[in-house]
Amino acid sequence: MRDRRHVRTVENTKNAENAENSENTGNVAGTDDMAEGENIADGENIADTPGTGDAAGIAKAGPSDVSLTRREFFRGAGLTGLRAAACSLSLFNEDANAAAAGGTPEQIHLTWGDDPTRSVFVSWCSPAQAVNPRVLLWGESAEKRTFHGVQRAYTDGINGQTVFTYHAKLDGLHPDSTFHYAVTADNDRNAALPFKSTFKTAPPGRAAFRWTSYGDLATPVASWLLSSPQSRFAVEAVERFEPLFHLLNGDLCYANMNPLSQPAVWRDFGNNVQVSAANRPWMPCPGNHEIEFANGAQGLDSYLARYSLPHNGTAFPGLWYRFQIGSVLFISLSADDVIYQDSGAFVAGPAPLRPAPSTGNAAIEPGTSFYIHGYSRGAQTRWLEDTLAAASKNDDIDWIIVQMHQDAMSSSKNGNGSDKGIREAWLPLFDRYGVDLVLCGHDHDYERSWPVRGCNHNVGRDAMTGTAVDTCQPKPTITSEPVDGRFDTSAGTIHLILGGGGTSSPLDAYGQNPANGMPQARVITKANRPIPGDTPGTFKKLGADALEDAIWSARRDTDTGYGIAVFDVDPGTPRGKTSISIRYYHAVGADRVPTSDYELFETLVLAKERRDPSRKT
Ligand SMILES: [Fe+2]
Ligand SMILES: [Fe+2]
Repeated sequence: MRDRRHVRTVENTKNAENAENSENTGNVAGTDDMAEGENIADGENIADTPGTGDAAGIAKAGPSDVSLTRREFFRGAGLTGLRAAACSLSLFNEDANAAAAGGTPEQIHLTWGDDPTRSVFVSWCSPAQAVNPRVLLWGESAEKRTFHGVQRAYTDGINGQTVFTYHAKLDGLHPDSTFHYAVTADNDRNAALPFKSTFKTAPPGRAAFRWTSYGDLATPVASWLLSSPQSRFAVEAVERFEPLFHLLNGDLCYANMNPLSQPAVWRDFGNNVQVSAANRPWMPCPGNHEIEFANGAQGLDSYLARYSLPHNGTAFPGLWYRFQIGSVLFISLSADDVIYQDSGAFVAGPAPLRPAPSTGNAAIEPGTSFYIHGYSRGAQTRWLEDTLAAASKNDDIDWIIVQMHQDAMSSSKNGNGSDKGIREAWLPLFDRYGVDLVLCGHDHDYERSWPVRGCNHNVGRDAMTGTAVDTCQPKPTITSEPVDGRFDTSAGTIHLILGGGGTSSPLDAYGQNPANGMPQARVITKANRPIPGDTPGTFKKLGADALEDAIWSARRDTDTGYGIAVFDVDPGTPRGKTSISIRYYHAVGADRVPTSDYELFETLVLAKERRDPSRKT
């Protein structure tokens, strides 16, 4: 076994002249932010290492265990009656010998393998290195199969804590079947009664199924920056709708806003999400707040260490992927690769961010931002086009759904806004190959676009000077609700912003053009590198540089910034139509007081003809 730990070096970018944020790192300005530049961290991809349990290859001793208190656990556990939470309570057996129980599984979550009808990953963490980490699997019969966990370990480049994660690929499964599993290790404190749960594999062929989505979840531990107790209710909401799986569209936990405690933030996130993600796959995409200083070439080593995701066949495993369920192709993208906005880790100053001496990493000076625009050098966009081109020739695929974090179309007044980088790089591909629906987050609100195709040029204006700017304004194909309530997305792509997971920063205020009363969007058309702030030694990043009329905006939720979208696929019948029913539920009042009460905001239906080969006969 081997473990390729990275030597992480952090260099200041050449232009690094700025920052903001009270505590040394990210953007605070309301939410996410901006800038441009090159990568400042250097590292290698995380290597999988068989989790056989010995310590060989781990260059440093175990991590400094950041334990949750019992009280913190109850705040973060979610539905108290759920099996997952109940099992986790035993993590806190105070009589146990903690030193011998470092392999106790926690933060347990599922993801799909390459074929969701036959393969599921079980992933988890443990406070220290696990000995013989494994998953026991059984179905209707009591016969058990054992799958060994593969270890991925990384050492946080800021506080020096080593994190141990494990991944067991359960394959050769039967479609549309319920399985039971247990997660354990030889040094599992609960070895006599290990964590157990169940999951269901995807159905084969054209079939009905449900998924849910939101992004920007954070953790329920409100002492972390951008966390809120609403995060617990958001996880409970997924369980209430019992989807086959959940799409978590980026900004998972905002660890990079708490740079000295990143592994602890991830841990609170993981134990909160376990309440649902141990029962059904949660499929993530990386957001700007997964980008962390000194944690890999893109700052995404923490994210990559925790998730096993379908292969993409490129040099960037785990950052983008596809999977198909029924006649629906899901494509998950890493939009930081194409956006102009700089919104990753950021040191605002005036003090530098000082990594722990054990890391060997130098202080990160005020004004340093971690901007990863263009990191794949086009590999992601080439993969996307190849994937879409193949889908367009595949009559088994009726629907194409894209998940990414940032927004091509957002008219949030105080949030990030729309990013021209997505409009330039990917909207033409969505048009050419007929993507039906794009699910995003980033702005912590709900906004639905009309179906769009193509764009208008030179209709925006500079936010400061008023001079003309080409924002590539997307063109709606219709601007009123369909009479029968059913959208035909073969004519245009609908974008949904679902950024209402559970942060402490709702953004449900929207722009309006005072001159004509139209919805107005702020558009990021160029990189916004850090600039000197108002106080000497501090730095800031400006917001969107351009404005346009949001002629594409169909509906905005002004009641609350929190909610969850529920999608039900009706496969239809041969020579008939297939449909996707979308219901958006919002948590009214959550902007003031966290609530478990989600109520229906709106319903829309997408409908189109099936592409069965039989139609051609
Ligand atoms: Fe966010
Ligand atoms: Fe974001």
